[in-house]
Amino acid sequence: MPRATIELKIRRQDAPSAPPRWEEFSLPYRPNMNVISCLMEIRKRPVTKQGTTTTPPAWEASCLEEVCGSCTMRVNGAPRQSCATLIDRLPPGTVTLEPLTKFQVVRDLIVDRSPMLEALIQVKGWIPIDGTYDLGPGPRIAESERATAYAFSRCMTCGCCMEVCPQYNERSEFIGPAPLAQVRLFNAHPTGRMNAAERLQTIMGRGGLADCGNAQNCVQVCPKEIPLTEAFGELGRQTTLLWLKNLLGK
Ligand code: SF4
Ligand code: SF4
Ligand code: FES
Repeated sequence: MPRATIELKIRRQDAPSAPPRWEEFSLPYRPNMNVISCLMEIRKRPVTKQGTTTTPPAWEASCLEEVCGSCTMRVNGAPRQSCATLIDRLPPGTVTLEPLTKFQVVRDLIVDRSPMLEALIQVKGWIPIDGTYDLGPGPRIAESERATAYAFSRCMTCGCCMEVCPQYNERSEFIGPAPLAQVRLFNAHPTGRMNAAERLQTIMGRGGLADCGNAQNCVQVCPKEIPLTEAFGELGRQTTLLWLKNLLGK
């Protein structure tokens, strides 16, 4: 039985320190709407279901094709990309929209994901290059290595994995699954390997790999199906080897 209307309940918050509130909206049903198109409809006429005029809800989006991660929010309690969430595929009933809970709310459905980017800086999540001139072709890698690297390179820092990780919260120092997986990616790169030991030293310290409780929630929600737990296993092997090397003074 198709919906006659689309009922939405949105958690609103005017500023980081403002108290949150809920607002309800009712839209005429159209097939093939995603969450973003519902928000755009509300923006055109920001009037609640109860008939009160309100401010248009704020949200972030860029690519609209599940590549940038910026539109990530909690839809019916689960973190997902609102651009890729079709209303027709959701169970009947009110659709609840909330911001991610592991990051500070900026406004309404927009959160500040910068802790994830700061963690990437901490683990040197990049390949160092020397200047901008043509360095010629890079080193060749085996197809199997390329395929593994590609899987990890698809991370869009959406934060879904951080949202469901029981070890990542405001009381812990854990840097979280997404930045850890990038250590796996950059340590495998022929040039990135030069900084492998520095990355490993970082994740051997406080807030690093040892803080992962192996609950595996992260790997289940990653929209890019990144093999996060495989990365943690490999990083465990790499950190053990480095620890032994340091112990033996080699
Ligand atoms: S395996 Fe569990 S504890 Fe470790 S990063 Fe993933 S969700 Fe967090
Ligand atoms: S690892 Fe997956 S869930 Fe985590 S931030 Fe990257 S794309 Fe999102
Ligand atoms: S807008 Fe880029 S993932 Fe949704």
